[in-house]
Amino acid sequence: MHEIKKIIDEIIKYLEENIRTTEEKFVVNSIKKCVLDKKTLNSVTPNSPPKHKSLIKGLLSISSEKIIPLKNSILEGYTKLYWKTDDGEYYEQNSDIGRNYLNGNMNAELIGPNDGFFKSDELKLGIFLLEQNIFYKDHKHAAPELYLNLTNGIKWRIGEKKWIEKKSGSIIYNSPYNPHGMKVGKIPFISIWCWPYNQDQKCIVINKKF
Ligand SMILES: [Fe+2]
Repeated sequence: MHEIKKIIDEIIKYLEENIRTTEEKFVVNSIKKCVLDKKTLNSVTPNSPPKHKSLIKGLLSISSEKIIPLKNSILEGYTKLYWKTDDGEYYEQNSDIGRNYLNGNMNAELIGPNDGFFKSDELKLGIFLLEQNIFYKDHKHAAPELYLNLTNGIKWRIGEKKWIEKKSGSIIYNSPYNPHGMKVGKIPFISIWCWPYNQDQKCIVINKKF
């Protein structure tokens, strides 16, 4: 329990120092309101991450000074988590999200209703990974969303804007139903992601050109 609380503490600490907008503050406050103790433990069984090699490769690539404490806390705690690939949890089975995403994603929930290390009925906070060279098609969802990009080399397309490269330590906020897509470069993409509410509603694919 201690190792996972440490990861969440490091996330909150980093976000508090780096967020700017009211919407971002709302997400951080929602995380802070979650009770993290023995009574809120889900009984998840830790497993070996299905994309272990990519997880370690991505984590070891992180060299930004400000992210090191969070990186180290993940390295110390990841074996206590339940890791899974999304094959229908976030998208309808016939959604056309593409094999690229389905074969190349992995996540572990630090907080969440069923698979989270700690339980919350409202909020999901997790570690999200995409393997190198994956195109994660543009999509949208009812939940507002905060991403903390831990690795370098990730390109984001938000709304109708052009692709922009985001550095390690950058924060992305997606308002409800605002489309966003990602392109991963040569390093596996590792991030922290949070949905403060509406976590039970599926994502909708938006087919745009690569
Ligand atoms: Fe999203």
